[in-house]
Amino acid sequence: MATSAESNFLKTPQAEAPQLLDGFGRVINYARVSLTDRCNFRCLYCMPQGGRPFIPHERILHHEEMLRLCARMAELGISSYKITGGEPLCRKDAAIFIKQLIALPGVREVSLTTNGSLIAPQLEDLAAHGLKSVTFSLDAMTPEALRRVTRSDTPPGEILASMDLAAALGLRVKINTVLLKGLNDAELVPLTRYALERGWHIRFIELMPVGEGKQFAGIAPEEVFRNIEAQFGQLSPVSRKTGNGPAVMYSLESYPGLVGFIAALSGRFCASCNRVRLVSTGFLKTCLCHEAGIDLRGPLREGASDAKLTQIIRDAVSQKPQGHVFSFDKAKADVAGFNMNSVGG
Ligand code: GTP
Ligand code: 5AD
Ligand code: SF4
Repeated sequence: MATSAESNFLKTPQAEAPQLLDGFGRVINYARVSLTDRCNFRCLYCMPQGGRPFIPHERILHHEEMLRLCARMAELGISSYKITGGEPLCRKDAAIFIKQLIALPGVREVSLTTNGSLIAPQLEDLAAHGLKSVTFSLDAMTPEALRRVTRSDTPPGEILASMDLAAALGLRVKINTVLLKGLNDAELVPLTRYALERGWHIRFIELMPVGEGKQFAGIAPEEVFRNIEAQFGQLSPVSRKTGNGPAVMYSLESYPGLVGFIAALSGRFCASCNRVRLVSTGFLKTCLCHEAGIDLRGPLREGASDAKLTQIIRDAVSQKPQGHVFSFDKAKADVAGFNMNSVGG
């Protein structure tokens, strides 16, 4: 009998893959699924020191409910999935959900974004079941700087060891780093070198003025770019597709890894946006920075048929807003008033 990993590899490509279009003609083929708003870290730009009230359990979808919604999205043509949180692995059934998601018809690719502190015991099993890529959110390599940003005592060595294990298991390893002026900017060079030497991708995310993020100063992508060129040599644009996100990637002559920039604030990648976000409550959020979207938990728990759920998702996607309205003016920013830990980036 085929294991679920084998059956995933044996999936035959659909002859006519369905295509889901929004009202602006953009192809929506990617969903970020936030499994939980809980997290064992308290990153300065994401969560207050004392945490914030978490979403009550009864409002959080069971993994079977989440899976049913993903199955509907996959039927519509959403074939790539990113599992996020909070910290997704704070949920005990995260690995079960991920393995079942990978096995769903129409699901082509599943990856995971994690803070790397809880993943080690799960890695081998996830890789065996077809997980292909893990993005580690890592803002520092030195213990003091990591503690300063994450307010966690997790030693960076443990996270780095999990990254090495992921790579040894054949998973693609990516690092997402948010730089904060005066707090972890000195980590830029060591982190970049570490990733580049190992052939990994490191992407610098521009700080977004959402929630806690409003209190800090980030570093402009142009400045990070200049610092990296000064230290590692000329950055050359990479034209091949390296992920599903808005990262713009560059290569260097002397290193196997790639450097990327996610200009989350100043970049204008909305015209090519390919994504929706399924929040752990069952809310389908159609743009990171707008309230737009639809609650799917209500209909799901009131007994809606699969066809009805599909129709609701299709309608929400057709109403997806055109673009973000983040502003450098912090007074005007954060229009949607959401917290990053409940949406998952
Ligand atoms: P892959 O490149 O496919 O591995 O995806 P990834 O997990 O790195 O995620 P992605 O590149 O999609 O996003 C990384 C970060 O970019 C997120 O955590 C967000 O902070 C930011 N980001 C992602 N999508 C958007 C978006 O639609 N708008 C804005 N402003 N920022 C985004
Ligand atoms: N600005 C930019 N990135 C953020 N993240 C969380 N909050 C912010 C913010 N205010 C990032 C995390 C992680 C991803 C899920 O979102 O660092 O990489
Ligand atoms: Fe947790 Fe990620 Fe938020 Fe840090 S950024 S507190 S790791 S959810």
